[in-house]
Amino acid sequence: MGLAGKRIILGITGSIAAYKSAFLTRLLIKEGAEVQVILSASALDFISPLTLATLSKRPALHQFQKDETGVWNNHVELGLWADLMLFAPLSANTLAKMANGHCDNLLLATYLSARCPVWFAPAMDLDMYQHPSVRKNIQTLQSFGNRLLDAESGELASGLSGQGRMMEPESIVKEIKGFFESGQDFKGKKIGLTIGPTQEAIDPVRFISNHSSGKMGYALAEAFLERGAEVWVISGPISIPVSKDKFHWKDVHSAQEMFEAAQDIHEKMDVMVFAAAVADYAPAEVAPEKIKKQGDSLQIHLKKNVDIAQELGKQKKPNQIHVGFALETENEKEHAVDKLNRKNFDLIVLNSMKEKGAGFRLDTNRVSIFSKNGQVVESEISPKKEIAGMILDQIKKESSWTLV
Ligand code: PMT
Repeated sequence: MGLAGKRIILGITGSIAAYKSAFLTRLLIKEGAEVQVILSASALDFISPLTLATLSKRPALHQFQKDETGVWNNHVELGLWADLMLFAPLSANTLAKMANGHCDNLLLATYLSARCPVWFAPAMDLDMYQHPSVRKNIQTLQSFGNRLLDAESGELASGLSGQGRMMEPESIVKEIKGFFESGQDFKGKKIGLTIGPTQEAIDPVRFISNHSSGKMGYALAEAFLERGAEVWVISGPISIPVSKDKFHWKDVHSAQEMFEAAQDIHEKMDVMVFAAAVADYAPAEVAPEKIKKQGDSLQIHLKKNVDIAQELGKQKKPNQIHVGFALETENEKEHAVDKLNRKNFDLIVLNSMKEKGAGFRLDTNRVSIFSKNGQVVESEISPKKEIAGMILDQIKKESSWTLV
């Protein structure tokens, strides 16, 4: 069961090789993968959804709307759900659409929404496969980071012989297994993360909070998962698209709730990452009814919140790693290093409010990472996903575990 727990979207397009997709589905299921089949309209001319639904044990999807009910198949959710999206077979037509950002069916909309690796196994006649436009489209997909499973040579449906046969299902499954096994350097590790803002109630309709979107924290959660870890996420209120069922997920509002949830899991974690922007103060009392407008000013008395990272830092065991974040506006390095020591972090990730392209809400960040021995690494402005990968690399270096 080399693919246990892995979620694969199998995109099938209009090609005679679609009959092989039934074998491919069966092999993936046998390896323990969860397979969601999505067909293009022309794929239906070659293979029936009934066959694929039976083999995959899930409805095989091909349209946005479910049976004219007005209920739709959500391509964004599908794109987030998958660990890998595989097009097999990929026709010249869908290849051209993918290369040019077309979005006229569920399969293409899911492709454009997918955050996971995308692989494609073309199948077409030999002259089509060598046509300059097809070669150019393949290169375009590769330039997007999509991986080509090159067509094999042999007898083709046209009766001609040459390169154009879809890679055999057994070989595709072997590639997929190799891929998932190779990147699993956090396999067996348990990771806890706090992400997003906290909300501290003033009255039933108002609260104190901050601008954290949860993007940095969620990018970290996904990176740990991709690298084989089991991940516990404790999230303040966020509104970015997330796929909660991939994780042990707990939604919280206040700093106190976040602390209690973190305390519950802390002991069994190998790594805790404190990426949440926790409110340092909360109203001393929450008004039971909406506070009415009165006079020219209003004073709200605040009390100090628990410092989650600092409290759990006191309970840290020698084999545990704690990673904190620092969001500063002045004397950045000094404050970050002070927090590293005060909160007993092993690493602290400093992001600056002053830096364009870094910090709250954006898809990019720029960070400096410090350990107890000084500055370890400094990033360029990069997507939060890449920053997350860099943080994981540093955690790996910091750890004394023997990771694969
Ligand atoms: O969510 P995004 O929009 O993607 O933005 C990402 C981010 C800027 C929120 C994130 O990268 C970040 O910097 N998070 C920490 C922000 C923060 O609260 O920093 P701080 O310097 O106030 O806190 C230092 C550390 O102590 C942090 O690890 C924080 O989680 C932790 N802390 C702080 C206060 C508190 N009461 N409890 C805590 O655990």
